[in-house]
Amino acid sequence: MKVGIIGGSGIYDSEVFQTSVDSINTPYGKVVFERGVLQDEEIFFLPRHGKGHSIPPHLINYRANIAAFKELGVERILATSAVGSLRADLSPGTFVVLNQFLDFTKRRALLFDETSVKHIDFTEPYCKKINTVLRQELKNLGIKNEEGCYVCTEGPRYETPAEVKMFSLLGGDVVGMTNVPEVTLAKEAGICYGCVSTVTNLGAGIGQVPLRHEEVVAVMEENSEKLKALLMTAIPRLQKEPRECGL
Ligand code: HPA
Repeated sequence: MKVGIIGGSGIYDSEVFQTSVDSINTPYGKVVFERGVLQDEEIFFLPRHGKGHSIPPHLINYRANIAAFKELGVERILATSAVGSLRADLSPGTFVVLNQFLDFTKRRALLFDETSVKHIDFTEPYCKKINTVLRQELKNLGIKNEEGCYVCTEGPRYETPAEVKMFSLLGGDVVGMTNVPEVTLAKEAGICYGCVSTVTNLGAGIGQVPLRHEEVVAVMEENSEKLKALLMTAIPRLQKEPRECGL
């Protein structure tokens, strides 16, 4: 089975497998990606923010990225992302496997064809199989992890303390700016999707220091060895173990 990796902040190349740069034209625009082989199976890597982190969350071409993976025959997407914590007990360095989301985005593509009448079920937004593999492998590697609910904001600014308090009261565990519509378009395209988020900071008002993007990237880099170890053990399983979700 073909697996596609989407790298978030601080993860700009695949490193875990040898790759060559390639590109593909989709109806939504051109996508540059890395193509490699792992365990005799083709594998693809896409840095969500571009190579040098040049694309802010609200300008990412989410439709093109997912359409590119679809055209390449990807059946499972494993994404990484940096998040702020909405709980004082969820500290930086913790890995959170996403199991629900709250969508606070404002002006992003909703569907591949926004004129179509489509009401997709999101009872289970993230792939159960991918989540099981991720949590088992995180446990095997001795990496502290939880499952949790992702609040997606429009960004690109960080939250106010009042927003952080509201998101936490609503049941959010972590906050970021990119998971919607990535996860929703993947489901629309019939691709299983899972995301492991790394907590890089306490949300505004929980932590005592102002938030800085450089800090987020630095914490991601500190944790990148763990993330690579996870990809190395999780991907071969995701390539081999059958889909159980009926997507
Ligand atoms: N808020 C939103 N996005 C983020 C944060 C945050 O605190 N940390 C990393 N990405």
